Amino acid sequence: MTQAYKNYINGQWVDAANGAVTHDTNPADTRQELGTFPSATRQDAQNAIDAAQRAFPSWARTPMPQRGEILRRAAHWLDARVDEIGAALTREEGKTFAEGKAEVARGASIVRYFAGECMQPTGDVYPSASASTFLFAERVPLGVVGLITPWNFPCAIPTWKMAPALAYGNTVVFKPAEITPLTAWYIVSAFEQAGLPPGVLNLVVGRGSQAGQELVENPRVKAISFTGSNEVGTRLAAQVAQRGGKAQLELGGKNPIVILNDADISKAVELTVQGAMLSTGQKCTATSRAIVVRDIVNAYRDALAARVQQLRVGDGMRPDVYMGPLVSADAEKTVLDYIALGKQEGARLVTGGEKLRGEEYDHGFFVAPTVFDRVTPDMRIAQEEIFGPVVGILEAKDIDDAIALANHTRFGLSASVVTRDLNLALRFMREIEAGVVHVNSMTAGAEPQVPFGGFKDSSSGTREQGKAAREFFTQWKTVYVDPL
Ligand code: UN1
Repeated sequence: MTQAYKNYINGQWVDAANGAVTHDTNPADTRQELGTFPSATRQDAQNAIDAAQRAFPSWARTPMPQRGEILRRAAHWLDARVDEIGAALTREEGKTFAEGKAEVARGASIVRYFAGECMQPTGDVYPSASASTFLFAERVPLGVVGLITPWNFPCAIPTWKMAPALAYGNTVVFKPAEITPLTAWYIVSAFEQAGLPPGVLNLVVGRGSQAGQELVENPRVKAISFTGSNEVGTRLAAQVAQRGGKAQLELGGKNPIVILNDADISKAVELTVQGAMLSTGQKCTATSRAIVVRDIVNAYRDALAARVQQLRVGDGMRPDVYMGPLVSADAEKTVLDYIALGKQEGARLVTGGEKLRGEEYDHGFFVAPTVFDRVTPDMRIAQEEIFGPVVGILEAKDIDDAIALANHTRFGLSASVVTRDLNLALRFMREIEAGVVHVNSMTAGAEPQVPFGGFKDSSSGTREQGKAAREFFTQWKTVYVDPL
């Protein structure tokens, strides 16, 4: 018997109103079930919105430092359970245990960062044209906000939305991806144990088309923060805008690592492998294009192929494993379809490219880490987000060509350059169209104190984390105070 988990509405753990459940299984071995979760409908989401709305006035009035104390306790609760929650994350999402633990520790550090923000200024005092006027502007909460989060970072992304939403005085309805609800359950438990009042944070596990759609359409939800696909995100934002709500989108990427002539090839290979293969390539910041200057492209390709062939693939709980499974049968199919497409388009498969077979793999969604070369800029595998362990090598004539190729995509989330030449690194930093730029580090990764988000179709133009989070989760109130 596996555990039957529940939704969290108004401080109570409750089943879905219609009793429906969904099964949470392990993508490394689908015979293992982690638990059942309610499959929330619109009705459950409405109940959660009601609870959040009732809780809002009192939470908004709670002194910010007091809100910060609750966040600090939640961070501490997560920190104390890094191993337990990290294992749950690995078993439901598939990334390695090392990555699972690191993500939980990261979630705790994000929550702690926003606890600290609860002691920071909430606005500005301005000079007034009138001698008697005291003029200030303050950031105040929006009300009920909806958070719709993906499965690939089931701890980091919810915490980096939830922590600022709560710190700045909003109440929250949280709808995690329905295939990673256990990590969500732990996060909500952290806030419950930290003493968050009932209704301030509500959890509805359910499908996007039901619970998610209610959040999108319900005018009582003042803002939606969404991370996921471009297709869903742009549709959702249009619907939210139509009813006068605010939406923040973090969407896809097609992130390049640009490798220049003077690069240390083994360092370049290591950064490519980390960026492309960690989390099985399932990050919007993953490296999916390696743009390599002509003189070194053959040496780089051979070294990359040799390194990729050494990677141990398997159940992420095994300590020797570098890369776990894809998250689901759908994800596996998409990746295998893109690999077939790459071959059809005329790219050359250098290594990988197949579904892994054998006792260790037959009950999970394992695809070999894959490298293509002779990829040309307009191939679909060079333009579309694959979201799997696949990297394509594109050859560049020189730095100008490399930057042009790097920018030749609708996306602009992250980008990396590998070089010791400061002048070239500076050019890259200036000319690359990306919201997050790395010099000599992998394309993935995001620290909580700095803005995170993309250019072009990778985001809605808003940014998350750091001071940028305040922009989204609050609104200005400008106050003129005069004596009578
Ligand atoms: C990271 O690179 O560590 O969904 C974070 C994603 C991004 C977050 C990436 N929004 O993969």
